[in-house]
Amino acid sequence: MSEAKNTSFSGQLGFVLASAGSAVGLGNIWRFPYLAAKDGSLFILIYLLLVLSFGFALLLTDIAIGRKTRRSSVFAYYAISPKWRYLGVLTFLVPAFIMTYYPVIGGWICRYIAVYLTGLQEAAADSAFFTSFIASSGSPLGYGLFFMLITGLIIFFGVQSGIERVSCWLLPVMFIMIIGIAGYVLTLEHTDANGQTRSGMMGLVYFLTPHLEDLTLSRFLQILLDAMGQLFFSLSISMGIMITYGSYVNKEVNLGKCVLQIEIFDTVAALLAAVIIIPTIYVFSGPEGMSAGPSLMFISLPKIFNVMGTAGIVIGALFFLMAAFAALTSCISVLEPIVANIMDVFQSARKKTTVLTTLFYLIAVGVIVLGYSTFYVEVKLPNGSTGQLLDIMDYISTSFMMPFISLLTCLLIGWVVGCQWITGEVERCGHAFRTKALYTFMIRYLAPVLMTILFLQSTGFWNMLTN
Ligand code: PHE
Repeated sequence: MSEAKNTSFSGQLGFVLASAGSAVGLGNIWRFPYLAAKDGSLFILIYLLLVLSFGFALLLTDIAIGRKTRRSSVFAYYAISPKWRYLGVLTFLVPAFIMTYYPVIGGWICRYIAVYLTGLQEAAADSAFFTSFIASSGSPLGYGLFFMLITGLIIFFGVQSGIERVSCWLLPVMFIMIIGIAGYVLTLEHTDANGQTRSGMMGLVYFLTPHLEDLTLSRFLQILLDAMGQLFFSLSISMGIMITYGSYVNKEVNLGKCVLQIEIFDTVAALLAAVIIIPTIYVFSGPEGMSAGPSLMFISLPKIFNVMGTAGIVIGALFFLMAAFAALTSCISVLEPIVANIMDVFQSARKKTTVLTTLFYLIAVGVIVLGYSTFYVEVKLPNGSTGQLLDIMDYISTSFMMPFISLLTCLLIGWVVGCQWITGEVERCGHAFRTKALYTFMIRYLAPVLMTILFLQSTGFWNMLTN
């Protein structure tokens, strides 16, 4: 494999598909539909506005940092300003933490694919199925390690032969599946025990109807914060991923255009996931049936797939396969910046670095999997929730570090080196950057304020301060 093939994407398309693969993940499938159902279409409107303004600015910043410095986070921040090198190390730690638990969830998804392929759909419809599965040791361990190994294998083959090739296949297939399932869901109809019939189309109307009757200022702020937190996680911002991917982009590529395309992929996937999940839950469980996170995906949906009969087996298998693809393209984007940074720091070769990193993470993933059995703990987190090892890793990386890093990055770019450091990179080769003024305003003023609020809210300090 030539050196160039190992260190850059083949072109704009490969880069956009790989980045969209990173962006489209569990956040789109289990978090966006839940928030859309909870907060209504006002959430979607605010989310769309934030994607185009705030999300655009932050994603562009990450990618431009990568392309301009041609380095992953540790050295990229050093290249911007040696005094800020610790920010690079901090950024490196985000994927390093996420990598310990993302394959665990990927493994759960693989278990559910196996459920539908082996006729266990009735057993899986019992709420205890999921909890007893994750609380056992052998099975979740096997699936988690399997998912980790596949991720390591893809990274082993490098940027073009690994990441780009897999993303170029999986992303389009995933979109076809998601569109197909959404289309089917809209034709559903079900009459419950009270004789009430609900259809998928009614669910869609419910999803799109703004519920503004009880809108108060504090609820509006809550929706804004929900949208911001979701956007952040969904676009894989401020975790070094997009810096690393950006460092593999050719200098001629129009970054502004790429960011827009990545955002379109990510947002359309989130909306389609909502079109699958909200009407399905609405038809079979009514508007109150919506739950969040793992219980939505691994408890509520399997119950419904079981009620659907034979069609439910097909839809269940396709749904979890689609989710596995989404998780895999995100998971490789978490491992890549870790491997790339280690290669940078130790001047080591990709294959050797990947093998050693994968071995390390096989152990780490094993520990996190066993966090529901052998290493069971109950820790009260500052945001009020109680969690096991997986939740602790998630809290540290996504609730605590991501908004904090984003805040510091905005201060560094907006106030220390100046926004022209980024805008110059975007305008390279004569590409127009029409929203430059908006970008500068976002990075210097709005983003730091919003990031501070988001940081206080997602860490739970906001509630401590206001109570
Ligand atoms: N962007 C991914 C999603 O929406 C989440 C992700 C988190 C991806 C962490 C990579 C790393 O699910």
